[in-house]
Amino acid sequence: MGSVSLLSAAGRRLEGKVALITGGASGIGECTARLFSKHGAKVVIADIQDDLGHSVCKELQANSTSAFVHCDVTKERDIENAVNMTVSKYGKLDIMFNNAGIIGVSKSNLLDIEKSEFEQVINVNLVGPFLGTKHAARVMIPARQGSIISTASVCSTIGGVASHAYTSSKHGVVGLMRNSAVELGKFGIRVNSVSPYVVATPMARNFFKLDDDGVHGVYSNLKGKFLEAEDVADAVLYLGSDESKYVSGHNLLVDGGFTIVNSGFCMWNN
Ligand SMILES: NC(=O)c1ccc[n+]([C@@H]2O[C@H](COP(=O)([O-])OP(=O)(O)OC[C@H]3O[C@@H](n4cnc5c(N)ncnc54)[C@H](O)[C@@H]3O)[C@@H](O)[C@H]2O)c1
Repeated sequence: MGSVSLLSAAGRRLEGKVALITGGASGIGECTARLFSKHGAKVVIADIQDDLGHSVCKELQANSTSAFVHCDVTKERDIENAVNMTVSKYGKLDIMFNNAGIIGVSKSNLLDIEKSEFEQVINVNLVGPFLGTKHAARVMIPARQGSIISTASVCSTIGGVASHAYTSSKHGVVGLMRNSAVELGKFGIRVNSVSPYVVATPMARNFFKLDDDGVHGVYSNLKGKFLEAEDVADAVLYLGSDESKYVSGHNLLVDGGFTIVNSGFCMWNN
């Protein structure tokens, strides 16, 4: 029996809460869906990978009820439908996790990138969280409560790590998060983001050509540990739970200190 399944009812940090997770069929979203479910939340997974989404959902049924909805986060009607479906099935929406994202094409030079390629990344990574935040707010404002969390990245605070489109989109996610936190604070709604360093999910494995030895740890500041999807899910659990009841407008970096140091000019380099 896994340690989390030993949780007593009192230890379940999301008991009675309802969460909607975009990009919940894979990677960080899937891991968060599993953790939320173990902590007693009713979880709706919204994704474009229907088969994967349904199979994750089926596994979650062991802990608490869960449902899948097909949702392309770039389409307002899909997001609207996902939020409405969540409320009609479970009566409310407590936690919106805008997590779906893509890395886009690997071209790095400005002169090589097509406008359409740039727009595709912005559409999924920034317009998606905008639509998710908007429709979550639509149902959270009358309830005078809620927690909205978006997945940004270390690329939300520094340049040079990923493409122009990806970096722009993740800076945008933090801007959107901060602005929304200001507007929605008066309704008791908290808005935050989580910003991971490299996690070996299907997306990152493809892009960074990661192997199982965790070469993704090479550039991190914190040695002897590797960032895993579970670590990001733990941060999202904190932001979604009442333990963070006074935390809003915060970009929670889960990066082992990667973004606080210029490794090229560091007195402890040897
Ligand atoms: N893996 C990393 O190293 C890393 C680091 C920092 C931030 N992130 C961010 O974490 C989030 C999750 O990524 P991941 O690494 O788990 O990747 P992943 O590819 O494993 O999961 C992403 C999920 O989003 C879904 N998705 C993609 N486009 C969608 C759309 N238009 N509508 C709905 N769903 C869509 C995919 O089907 C997939 O299930 C992304 O926002 C990503 O930018 C990842």
